[in-house]
Amino acid sequence: MKISKQEFSRRRKNLMAQMEPNSIAIVPAATEQIRNRDTEYPFRQDSDFYYLTGFNEPDAVLVLLPGRRHGQYVLFCRDRDPAMELWNGYRAGPAGACEMYGADDAFPVNDIDDILPGLLEGRERVYYAMGRHDEFDRMVMTWVNVIRSRVRTGAHPPGEFLDLDHLLHDLRLYKSAAEIRIMRKAGQISAAAHVRAMKSCKPGMAEYQLEAEIQYEFGRNGARYPAYNSIVGAGNNGCILHYTENSDIIKDGDLILIDAGCEYEYYAGDITRTFPANGTFSKEQKALYELVLKAQLAAIKVIKPGNHWNESHDATVKVITKGLVELGLLKGSVNKLIETEAYRDFYMHRAGHWLGMDVHDVGDYKVGNEWRVLEEGMVMTVEPGIYVSPDNKKVAKKWRGIGIRIEDDVLVTKDGCDVLTKDVPKTVKDIEALMSHNKESKSA
Ligand code: GLY
Ligand code: MN
Ligand code: MN
Repeated sequence: MKISKQEFSRRRKNLMAQMEPNSIAIVPAATEQIRNRDTEYPFRQDSDFYYLTGFNEPDAVLVLLPGRRHGQYVLFCRDRDPAMELWNGYRAGPAGACEMYGADDAFPVNDIDDILPGLLEGRERVYYAMGRHDEFDRMVMTWVNVIRSRVRTGAHPPGEFLDLDHLLHDLRLYKSAAEIRIMRKAGQISAAAHVRAMKSCKPGMAEYQLEAEIQYEFGRNGARYPAYNSIVGAGNNGCILHYTENSDIIKDGDLILIDAGCEYEYYAGDITRTFPANGTFSKEQKALYELVLKAQLAAIKVIKPGNHWNESHDATVKVITKGLVELGLLKGSVNKLIETEAYRDFYMHRAGHWLGMDVHDVGDYKVGNEWRVLEEGMVMTVEPGIYVSPDNKKVAKKWRGIGIRIEDDVLVTKDGCDVLTKDVPKTVKDIEALMSHNKESKSA
């Protein structure tokens, strides 16, 4: 399951169709990042670059030149080099960039300083994501200055820089049928990993051992990397929103919050589930869990074309505030507590974000002053939570240290929405049923 060459080509055409006349777009690839001496982090191509090319090597630059007679799609990439390839792996080289990736023209990236000013010359506008890579910003300015220095010989330097993100990220926000198929699979693999974690959990394990179960399930299904660092937080650690140490021992009576999703064919899954280490929720854990679940279901209910982005968040705030008052964790009138954002002591983040090639995907949340209207093909997460700090002296002791989040990935469909991550249980009853065999295997 991959994005086809035709789809990559369609994306470039769609972008070029929206560019102003006589313009050029420049998109750099990601570079390799050193982890420590002589070792690199696993390479991950830049999402914008990959979206437009499908080319997964570092040290490359995409140039789009709408209307250019000798070809609109130009790639700069590393030259073939048998010695380097023997050590570090295959390179497509400029010829391969044309043959395999459909470039109209391709050049060695080492020659870019000589060639790119010539491509810029005579183009009035440059689309470029300024300010993201310092070093590449300087290179772009150097190329422009080469043309500026030649104006007396009749050269035409570009006069305007435009934000490429604005056009490109709006394209990425609407997922095609092929993207949805891949995201559905990313959701299924991520769900299977959460099921595996629930089924293998036992008090006494370390958090990283559950992380290993998740990682194993990703890998065996073709998703070698997580879309972000997995969060496995037991007990109080569930109240740390970005806890990734995953180093503590899981205790009987803990709740475990796992926020983990795979990256499959460059698309992210993003799921959170919270479950009891021993397979049975305590009374307080269950009360707060059911409140978060109620909020999440209320949010999913308002996801459909025509509704606004913020409506799902607002739905979670209402349910959570009302529920916290009923349980005695907040005191006062629900409306007043919403107005003063008193719920933020327990629920301090938004209910979701766009999801796609990046876990926090691109796309504007507001258009002008208005929250974005949902449309078919957008994918978002829905992830309310309640986190009672272990140090919160304002609530009864029995609630302290409980951290809960429930997160699913939701596709906006023609007349409603579809939960892409439904394969992992989320009711108290279903989670306890799934985990019931853990106890049996312990006593066996
Ligand atoms: N795992 C990142 C997030 O849920 O936003
Ligand atoms: Mn998440
Ligand atoms: Mn998320």
